[in-house]
Amino acid sequence: MGDQAKLSAGGADFEYPVLKGSVGPDVIDIRKLYGQTGKFTFDPGFTSTASCESALTYIDGDEGVLLHRGYPIGQLAEHSSFMETSYLLLNGELPSKDELATFENTITRHTMLHEQLATFYRGFRRDAHPMAIMCGVVGALSAFYHDSTDIADPEHRKISSHRLIAKMPTIAAMAYKYSVGQPFLYPDNKLSYTGNFLRMTFGVPAEEYEVIPAVEKAMDRIFILHADHEQNASTSTVRLAGSSGANPFACIAAGIACLWGPAHGGANEAALNMLKEIGTPDRIQHYIDRAKDKSDPFRLMGFGHRVYKNYDPRATVMQSTLREVFEALNVTDPLFETALRLEEIALSDPYFAEKKLFPNVDFYSGIILSAIGFPTTMFTVLFALARTVGWVAQWNEMISDPGQKIGRPRQLYTGPTQRDYVPVDKR
Ligand code: SDX
Repeated sequence: MGDQAKLSAGGADFEYPVLKGSVGPDVIDIRKLYGQTGKFTFDPGFTSTASCESALTYIDGDEGVLLHRGYPIGQLAEHSSFMETSYLLLNGELPSKDELATFENTITRHTMLHEQLATFYRGFRRDAHPMAIMCGVVGALSAFYHDSTDIADPEHRKISSHRLIAKMPTIAAMAYKYSVGQPFLYPDNKLSYTGNFLRMTFGVPAEEYEVIPAVEKAMDRIFILHADHEQNASTSTVRLAGSSGANPFACIAAGIACLWGPAHGGANEAALNMLKEIGTPDRIQHYIDRAKDKSDPFRLMGFGHRVYKNYDPRATVMQSTLREVFEALNVTDPLFETALRLEEIALSDPYFAEKKLFPNVDFYSGIILSAIGFPTTMFTVLFALARTVGWVAQWNEMISDPGQKIGRPRQLYTGPTQRDYVPVDKR
């Protein structure tokens, strides 16, 4: 008999098994708690709740460790590619050369969209936020693949996953093109996954587009950094939507909607807008003071994290990538100096030290993406593009779990107890 967690409630004693993972905190298996005690647990925001068992990604928030199928994010960022990391997340092991070539070929041949979808974009206002377009277009894909997607069939799940990973760059590039009034470019199968995305985004039919290798490599690394991140809000959204057996394209659209929020993936856009509002280093202290003021809703965007109580390892890689992009493009951005100074001042302030608030993945990403040429409204779109492989890998893991059940949390009810209807002339 393994460890047991003891609970006394209502004058009775109960014991619940403690389950151990391969690494990380043990969990107390409370699946029988309500049946035995008539009580629920209460954990809004799920700060102490494990929603599932997973073998994909492990985060040690105290140590600032992020592993994908056991491989540290720093090693994947340095040695791997987004396609290889995608294969790893989906299949559990690094691919052989042939396996990788086959996977890349499969993805390449799913990059085109059904031609009718191009007209779908025309229904959006010209100034529609690209994330609004992503929610709509990815959700619309469920109309194109619904009758051919039996999620109980592993092969159907596999092709849905490949279609989503392959089509997100095309959908994202088209969202950008639509917002700037330029014609859509079709995918070019001669290019890499990331090079193809850059060309569809920044190329025009009127001339050849040359992919800059250093930018392609930086963009590919940024995709690796955003690929998956355990049970974050948008991944949990995809899992919950998928737990009812919903169409996978519709589930990913739900994940995109959740990611858009400024507390989550929308923070990269909000962080750059914050740095632009701060402007010069002499104005930093005013914003630090606002972030510490409980009566002020302002928070330092790109700072803090539910899990990391140490430096987000992705922010470290992002900062070094930023320097590489500046050098490759022979550009600089005064906001980088402002960001470095803001980090330095915040990390030396007791408020941030005590609350263990550090820069997260979103703090520096906007400066790089801006240097490459993306408008701030595209930043979260790029996050969604990369996170799609994590979402589909987590969705596959959930659907293929024989013990999978529909997610259905309960509540602490504090509304009116039962009362009788009063006719309107007696109120
Ligand atoms: C992502 O979950 C993931 O894995 C997400 C992600 C992924 O890859 O999927 O890593 C991507 O979403 C990164 C986070 C991006 N969001 C931001 O940068 C927005 C700014 N950060 C905060 O909104 C906040 O830090 C959260 C939302 C990220 C985390 O919020 P929590 O875990 O609910 O923590 P909290 O709000 O309870 O904060 C704890 C304390 C609070 O003060 P007290 O109530 O204890 O006095 O720290 C304070 C907060 O007020 N605090 C901040 C702060 N973040 C937290 N104060 C100032 N500035 C901040 N940024």
